Amino acid sequence: MLSRPLGRTGLTVSELGFGCASWWGKPRFDERVALGLVHEAIDRGVTLFDTGASYSAGEAEPRLGRALKGRDASGLVVATKAGTYHAGGGRIARDMSPAAVVASAERSLRNLGLETLSLLQLHGPSIAELDDAMLAALSDLKTRGLARAVGLNSFDPAVIEHAVGLAAIDVVMVDYNVLRPEREALIALAAAAGKGVLAGMPLAMGHTRPLLARLRGPQDLWYAARAVAKHRDELARGRRFRFLHRLPDMTGSQAALAYVLANPNVSAAVFGATRAEHLRENLEVSGRPLAANIAAQIRAAQS
Ligand SMILES: NC(=O)c1ccc[n+]([C@@H]2O[C@H](COP(=O)([O-])OP(=O)(O)OC[C@H]3O[C@@H](n4cnc5c(N)ncnc54)[C@H](OP(=O)(O)O)[C@@H]3O)[C@@H](O)[C@H]2O)c1
Repeated sequence: MLSRPLGRTGLTVSELGFGCASWWGKPRFDERVALGLVHEAIDRGVTLFDTGASYSAGEAEPRLGRALKGRDASGLVVATKAGTYHAGGGRIARDMSPAAVVASAERSLRNLGLETLSLLQLHGPSIAELDDAMLAALSDLKTRGLARAVGLNSFDPAVIEHAVGLAAIDVVMVDYNVLRPEREALIALAAAAGKGVLAGMPLAMGHTRPLLARLRGPQDLWYAARAVAKHRDELARGRRFRFLHRLPDMTGSQAALAYVLANPNVSAAVFGATRAEHLRENLEVSGRPLAANIAAQIRAAQS
């Protein structure tokens, strides 16, 4: 597994990170399988794990904590998010006040069984919320040794662009995949400013494959329902990338990840998986470059 620097944080991360979110964190998903995926990822060289206080209705973070129990986490980069929380009944609420973010970070440390969070990210802040009080609170978490690096996750390009100009922000997580080439200018800007760049949703949530072909288990139904409710645009755009799943030398998921990793400004691609065969397939792509003709086909499909 190849590694890359996480911007100027002094941290190094495996170029493929494992996302501990969504179905992976749900109690309905077998705990032994979920923990087994994390253990296998560690054994295969993954050092970056990304989760969030509100992920999987608040269940993902403590589950990752249980997965890390008894493991040597000293070489791992464990990233989590703050500013959103599970308000009960599956409802996600947000409190992006500095006090709530600090309290959330302290809870995350307990959930994860760690003394320091490698990376604390604000989960979808607005530009107005990135005010002096918030930046001071984030810096204070670093001074107190509760967070090694701080950053944010946003799907809003204007927020990312603003964050890139803030000295207090170390890392940005953006939605970057074959369906989102428009993120490349922003990613270049972030890297030029010394920020670590994490690519979330690097598989475009699987939307390059036909929805029906993906329905094999309860998790697929859950992801399909989410796609129909929230990601119809991606479902439609994904049709242009069906050819990725007919390549001779790589699977479609490997090609999608290789596309993200071909961008030298990306520190790591953080994917989600609930099947061990998916995890293995994805990790095999580290160090395997995307063939020039496939890259050209992707560019053509994007235009
Ligand atoms: N989605 C968001 O809104 C969001 C927002 C912020 C941050 N993030 C971060 O990004 C991470 C990844 O996001 P994500 O899980 O939503 O999207 P993703 O990684 O783009 O896609 C996950 C989907 O791809 C499937 N998959 C994985 N490997 C596969 C393979 N080799 N072949 C076929 N299908 C495969 C998974 O199926 P199986 O479950 O069957 O393996 C799952 O349905 C999250 O865990 C989180 O850390 C996501």
